[in-house]
Amino acid sequence: PRKALSASGIRARKGGEPLVCLTAYTTPIAQIADAECDVVLVGDSVGMVLHGLPSTLQVTLDMMILHGKAVARGVRRALMVVDMPFGSYEASPDQALRNAARVMAETGAGAVKLEGGRHMAATIRFLVDRGIPVMAHIGLTPQSVNALGGYGVQGKGADAARIRDDARAVAEAGAFSVVIEKVPAALADTITAELAIPTIGIGASAGCDGQILVIDDMLGLFDAFKPKFVKRYAHLAADVGAAVHSYAQEVRARTFPAPEHVFTDDGAAS
Ligand code: KIV
Ligand code: NA
Repeated sequence: PRKALSASGIRARKGGEPLVCLTAYTTPIAQIADAECDVVLVGDSVGMVLHGLPSTLQVTLDMMILHGKAVARGVRRALMVVDMPFGSYEASPDQALRNAARVMAETGAGAVKLEGGRHMAATIRFLVDRGIPVMAHIGLTPQSVNALGGYGVQGKGADAARIRDDARAVAEAGAFSVVIEKVPAALADTITAELAIPTIGIGASAGCDGQILVIDDMLGLFDAFKPKFVKRYAHLAADVGAAVHSYAQEVRARTFPAPEHVFTDDGAAS
């Protein structure tokens, strides 16, 4: 039986050993991530890295649920969190509850994540009070790219107060942790010191209570572009390209398949 980490278990890790978090979108990658991670996030980044969409705005609830089901088959130990996609939770707490309940029931996730600070606090409280653990996401919130005017660093200079206020608001609303994306490192450290819940950094600071990356980014599999905060721990796009090249050459040279890959007719029925 599945003995997964719970949202409260993650919350209890505040100030302790750093939380290791990665995204996953498929069963085999979820299995690999689960062996090392505390949190496996089915991020709406799936739209860009697996579906070729131009941003996360085109991602649907059905896509998140389909990938959530796939990831659930690979996760045993980690807390599985599913992103609420753009348009599925912003209209009202009722809308958020209806759609988050679908995600929880249909995927078996242990929590949902949604983007937004102070303006989403009432919705976070509404979900948490009804049994749905919420991971918040502040700083650069990619679903708001059109309002933010791009994917730039958030919380510079006087704008730091806004991000600190967002962090306080989501923590007070009952979020069990908060992703802080693309803010100055010193601001991420300040927020980490101020909050009683774990901060999970991406483009933030090594001082956060945990880190998260998009797995296709850190594997060098998605290489359309590389944000500064991404470190590539492998170069799988190049590896895949080289493998496909070798296969193509061997097919053209008729050296694949080799004798060990083909069958002989020994007369016995199979
Ligand atoms: O969608 C995603 O992958 C995310 C993480 C980068 C935090 O939201
Ligand atoms: Na996301």
